[in-house]
Amino acid sequence: MKADEIHSEVSPWGTLQSLDYNQVFSEFGIEPIATVLPDLPTVPSFIRRGIVIGHRDYGVIVDAMRKGRPFHVLTGFMPSGLPHLGHLILMKEVVWHVQQGGNGYVLIADREAHAVRGISWDDCIRYGREYLKCLFALGFTGKTYAQSENEVVKDFAFEASTRVNLSELHAIYGFGPETSLSHPISVITQVADILYPQIDWGPAPTLVPVGIDQDPHIRLTRDIAHKLRMFTVESRGSTISVRSKNASPAALEEICSSFKDAKLYEGHVDIYGESIEDVREKTREIEREFGGYGFYTPSSTYHIFMPGLQGGKMSSSIPESLFSFYEPARSVRRKVMNALTGGRATLEEQRRFGGEPDKCPIYLLNLFHMVEDDGELNEIRRQCLQGELMCGTCKKQTLTRVITFLHDFRERMDAVSDVVEV
Ligand code: TRP
Ligand code: SF4
Repeated sequence: MKADEIHSEVSPWGTLQSLDYNQVFSEFGIEPIATVLPDLPTVPSFIRRGIVIGHRDYGVIVDAMRKGRPFHVLTGFMPSGLPHLGHLILMKEVVWHVQQGGNGYVLIADREAHAVRGISWDDCIRYGREYLKCLFALGFTGKTYAQSENEVVKDFAFEASTRVNLSELHAIYGFGPETSLSHPISVITQVADILYPQIDWGPAPTLVPVGIDQDPHIRLTRDIAHKLRMFTVESRGSTISVRSKNASPAALEEICSSFKDAKLYEGHVDIYGESIEDVREKTREIEREFGGYGFYTPSSTYHIFMPGLQGGKMSSSIPESLFSFYEPARSVRRKVMNALTGGRATLEEQRRFGGEPDKCPIYLLNLFHMVEDDGELNEIRRQCLQGELMCGTCKKQTLTRVITFLHDFRERMDAVSDVVEV
C-alpha cells in the first residue's frame, strides 16, 4: 500500500489510545508520524496500524532510506527478566529498519538492570542472551554488546557527563539528594549507547525507536549531542555560515581553507557557492580530525503500548497480563481464554450492537502480532463491529494463531542460539 492511500487507514486503528498520547506529544514537541508518511518509500505495518504514532526528526531517517544513504538504528533492552510479548514490537521496528538498509545496533543494558533493579551480573547475561535470540530469530543483523563490556561506551559516557549538571538531572528525572549515584551513571550510559554507532561506525543519522517512557533519555541525548558539536552550520541566503561553538582557531581556519570561496571572520566562516549538505559533511569531517565527534542529533519514533491481556498495563510483574515465549501451552491457553475483550454483556447484545475491537486486548494482540495480512485483520474488525463474530470464537481463533506463533518463534530462537554473543 502506498503512503497516501493509507492516511485514511491509519485513523480507524490510530485512534486506539492516541487521545491520551496526543496531549503528551504536543507538550513535549513530539510530532505525529503522519508528517513524514508521504515521503516514506514503504510503510511498515507498525505505522499502517497506528502502533508507531509519533517521532522526532524521523524525516532525516526517511530521507536516508530514500536516498540509500547510511543510517543507524539502535535500541537497548534492560535484562530485568525474560523477554515477553511486550518487547516484540520494538524488536520488529529495529529489524524492519535494518532491512531498509540501517546499520543495526542492539545492546543489553546490564549496568542499568544491575543499578536500578538489583539484577545480578550473571542473570543480566543469562536474560540478555534471550533478548538477542529473539532479535536474531526475527531477522536482526548488526552489532550487539552488553554495556558493562563496552569500553568505548563507558569512556564516552564519562565524556558526555561533562555536559550535564545535577540540576538538569533533577529537572528531567527528579533525581535528588537520596538518589543513588548509579542512577545518573545509568542515564549517561544510555546517552553513550545512543551515540555509540556514530563513534563506532562514523557520523550518520541514528534512529532510536522507543515507547514514550524513554523520551527523557532521548531529549537528554539530543541536547548533549548538540552541545558536543564544535560547529553550527546555517544557511543565510546565498552564504553558508559555519560558526564555532567550541572549536579551536586552527579548526576554523581548516574549514575556511577547505572551500574555494570562503572568508574567515572572528568566530565564523562565510562560504559562497556550495550546497549546505556538502558544507555540513565537510564540517563533520574536520570536527573529527580535530578530536570532536561530528554527531547527527539522534532521531526517535514512539510506539503505543500493547495493553495487558486483562486490560490495564502489560508488565512482567502482572503474570496474567502477558505470556512469555517460554510458557507451556496450557498456561498460554488459560491466559488467552480468560482475557478481557471488547465484547458486550450478552450474546444477544453483541449481535445487536457489535463488539468494541479498539478497546479489546484480544483484537490488539492480533493487530500487534498475530495477523500479518491487513485484509484479514480488517475482516476481524468488521465482523466484530457488526456483531457477526462472538468473543468465544474469536478467542479460540486467536489462541490457534498464538500457539502456532510461539511454536515457530521458539524453533527460530533455538536455531540462532549460537549466533548470540554477549
Ligand atoms: N533504558 C532502556 C529500558 O529501560 C534500556 C536502554 C539502555 C536503551 N540503553 C538504551 C534503550 C539505548 C534505547 C537506547 O528499557
Ligand atoms: Fe474482541 Fe474478538 Fe470479542 Fe471483538 S469479537 S470484542 S475482537 S474478542
